[in-house]
Amino acid sequence: MKSVKSIYILIIFLIIFSSLKADNLDWGATGHRTIGEIATHYLKGKTKRAVLEILDGQSLALVSTFGDDIKSDKRYNEFYTWHYVNMPFGMKYEDAEKNPDGDLVSGIEKCKAVIIDENASKADKVFYLKMLVHLIGDLHQPMHVGRNEDKGGNDIQVQWFNRGTNLHRVWDSDMINHFDMTYTELAENSDKISKEQVKFLQKGTIVDWANETQTFAIKAYASAEIGDKLGYNYMYENFGLVRSQLQKGGVRLAKVLNDLFI
Ligand code: ADE
Ligand code: ZN
Ligand code: ZN
Repeated sequence: MKSVKSIYILIIFLIIFSSLKADNLDWGATGHRTIGEIATHYLKGKTKRAVLEILDGQSLALVSTFGDDIKSDKRYNEFYTWHYVNMPFGMKYEDAEKNPDGDLVSGIEKCKAVIIDENASKADKVFYLKMLVHLIGDLHQPMHVGRNEDKGGNDIQVQWFNRGTNLHRVWDSDMINHFDMTYTELAENSDKISKEQVKFLQKGTIVDWANETQTFAIKAYASAEIGDKLGYNYMYENFGLVRSQLQKGGVRLAKVLNDLFI
């Protein structure tokens, strides 16, 4: 009898555990923290002081995962759709039908509006600044500007080495985790870029960046099919894009923050 009971307990445990695992993190913690860390290097003095004051000294890397930390809390359900934007492939954000519940682009604009609103409460400024740091990261994850039909690749089941996963998760975290660097190591080892290159990357609007990320999503979708076994070769072909998107995300997050605290 005792062993039957323990099997039941084990089954219940496995069900709970697998349902927790089903909830995808965006970019994964390491990706978001890398973007926060890179951004810190490009903040102007005034921005740095303003951000530190709002965040009570917490780093951008630390708060970058906030958007995902609150996802499992039902009170924050209204922010769920802010983590992604789906435009039909080949259609620009400007021309696409908008999600009435909000999306990555409108979410970012809302965060910016609250942060510069002199009448906003301190608590709101904290909340929306943390969200902004997170969402600029999501904006650079190709699968967050993916197709609605497959929930940004979440429905495209593939294998990562010998483990089941999906294409969304491969881009959020499987490649980054396989690379096995900490976020500080990833930030430190991002490509050395000139001041001119930084300026070039910082050009454009949130909408331009969403449209640009869609071009990478199209490439990512073409890189795999349902059931594919992905591994070393996939890393070799695609991890360069992951690294450059993390760098772009960081450099552009700094630009967005610098513009807010002029
Ligand atoms: N996560 C859940 N739904 C999504 C979608 N449609 N696109 C991207 N990420 C998602
Ligand atoms: Zn994600
Ligand atoms: Zn997210």
